[in-house]
Amino acid sequence: MPTIHTTMILNFLLALSTTAPVLATFSTRVVYQSPTGLFLENIAVRPSGKLLLNSVASPTLHTLDPAAPNATLEEVYTFPNSTGLTGIVEYQPELYALVSSVINLTTRRAALGSVAIWRVDFTSKTPAATQIVGIPESTVINGLSVVPGNPDLILASDSNIGAVYEINMRTGTARIAIQDSTMTPGAPEPAHGINGLHVRNGFLYFANTQRGTFSRVPLAVQRGAVLQAGAVQVLGSVQDAVEEYDDFALDGEGHAWVATHPGALTLYSSLANGTWTQETAAGDPEGNYAVFTEPTSAAFGRGGCEKILYVTTGGGQIVSVDTGSADV
Ligand SMILES: *[C@@H]1O[C@H](CO)[C@@H](O)[C@H](O)[C@H]1NC(C)=O
Ligand SMILES: *[C@@H]1O[C@H](CO)[C@@H](O)[C@H](O)[C@H]1NC(C)=O
Ligand SMILES: *[C@@H]1O[C@H](CO)[C@@H](O)[C@H](O)[C@H]1NC(C)=O
Ligand SMILES: *[C@@H]1O[C@H](CO)[C@@H](O)[C@H](O)[C@H]1NC(C)=O
Repeated sequence: MPTIHTTMILNFLLALSTTAPVLATFSTRVVYQSPTGLFLENIAVRPSGKLLLNSVASPTLHTLDPAAPNATLEEVYTFPNSTGLTGIVEYQPELYALVSSVINLTTRRAALGSVAIWRVDFTSKTPAATQIVGIPESTVINGLSVVPGNPDLILASDSNIGAVYEINMRTGTARIAIQDSTMTPGAPEPAHGINGLHVRNGFLYFANTQRGTFSRVPLAVQRGAVLQAGAVQVLGSVQDAVEEYDDFALDGEGHAWVATHPGALTLYSSLANGTWTQETAAGDPEGNYAVFTEPTSAAFGRGGCEKILYVTTGGGQIVSVDTGSADV
């Protein structure tokens, strides 16, 4: 779910019209720029390397082939009773979970009763979409994660009440699995608390946008149910008050690459003694849009592009970051 700054469109135009200095530590390339500045919210990468893209300002799931010379967005499916899409994740091979809602972009909340979790099935030639479950009491389901080892389960962040839902994609049930004060926004709407969330090696990592924190919490799965198995550990927080964390990607070495509004990618790394460090991997934390215009989410390439990180932005860009282009 986005942070929409009122100056965003202006800055987006400025970014296009200036030749700004290269600030990236890692080399970056604009793979795509939406001609209308369509706000790109979230991303999943198919085994072929093609991208699936959600926008909070469109009910249509789009695809894009980043290997194509002049890549364009192609429509996959338009979801009924919705105006925008938030999280998307592949939970079984070529089966994707996705969130649709009727979203008010000013309050950044969904209409009660409009939040729906869908399965999009790419295993046959024509993709098929099926609604799995609604979450009628939620006003914003934002990011999604798989639960490794539990192929029917996904987790979903509620950025309003500060909770993690567990959704069983096979049985079509949803329940709150974790609710914690570190997940709540510290301010009323349009503020967002927990945003991106991803599970790795028994921990749920999550960003809290309004609080500016990046954290993790140990998880357990007992009789098919996800449980919080320890206290939340805050790993770090934004270095500047203008910064806001959105969604992120975890790599195979345990680093987290966090899309950071208004214009940066923040790299979190764990040290041998258990502490975590952070650095700006690309872009500018203070909002020079030379590389990114409101980065929203990130996902690693597949099909031979495993070191390429694709970052979506609110300015309608897909920026590839070559994470192999410097030492991490
Ligand atoms: C891509 O766009 C460029 C510039 O507009 C054009 O010269 C080129 O022919 C295009 N390539 C393809 C494969 O469409
Ligand atoms: C859209 O919502 C209306 C009202 O809740 C419902 O009657 C209808 O079945 C929904 N349409 C689809 C395709 O889900
Ligand atoms: C969004 O919410 C604001 C504030 O409550 C309201 O003024 C506006 O009409 C809403 N927009 C839509 C499209 O419903
Ligand atoms: C962990 O290691 C880093 C780098 O060597 C050091 O700066 C930091 O002080 C250490 N932290 C603790 C708690 O030992």
